[in-house]
Amino acid sequence: MKKKNEAEQLPELPCRCDVRPGDGETVREIVAATGYFTPSEVDVAVELVQENLAKGAAASGYHFVFAEHGGKTIAYLCYGPIPCTVSSHNLYWIAVHPDFQGKGLGKALMREAEKLIRDAGGTRIYIDTSYKAQYEDTRAFYLSLGYELDALLRDFYSPGDDKVIYRKLL
Ligand SMILES: CC(C)(COP(=O)(O)OP(=O)(O)OC[C@H]1O[C@@H](n2cnc3c(N)ncnc32)[C@H](O)[C@@H]1OP(=O)(O)O)[C@@H](O)C(=O)NCCC(=O)NCCS
Repeated sequence: MKKKNEAEQLPELPCRCDVRPGDGETVREIVAATGYFTPSEVDVAVELVQENLAKGAAASGYHFVFAEHGGKTIAYLCYGPIPCTVSSHNLYWIAVHPDFQGKGLGKALMREAEKLIRDAGGTRIYIDTSYKAQYEDTRAFYLSLGYELDALLRDFYSPGDDKVIYRKLL
């Protein structure tokens, strides 16, 4: 994640929640460009878009918020209610194109998703991520937004790669 530079702050960006046919490839481009995800993880990110397009947000359980700049989608987030819970939601994915990181865009997307989740009756948000050093900035990002460490699952992803779960009460 790039260090934030106040002079580079983006103006308020238009957000949209509707998912369009080209969004699978847009998501692939953004997620791959971050360099944080393996090719199979990139495929999973795209599959969530395809599920939404095939079944709709409610039936698929995958809701999206996209941020646009200069007519191009540059960041997105995917969340959804967790089946068999009363009002818990999961943040499945968030990615900001590297050219636009550190300018407040991730924070704006998270705030928008929290508002949408609250409006839908959600009361808790959970986020899974890796405890690897590569994700230190990502964890700092979640902590800065009021998410708290709720659990650590040792060697979850692979030996030496723990999973951490963050939680926020709305
Ligand atoms: C993680 C990610 C979504 C954050 O989005 P972003 O637009 O870069 O972050 P923002 O500019 O909105 O930063 C919001 C807050 O995070 C914190 N933060 C940002 N950059 C940071 C850094 N380099 N180090 C520590 N904290 C940082 C700051 O507290 C910042 O709040 P402030 O601006 O009020 O000080 C984005 O960097 C990204 O796509 N990373 C790669 C993919 C990834 O890790 N996705 C999540 C996988 S689980």
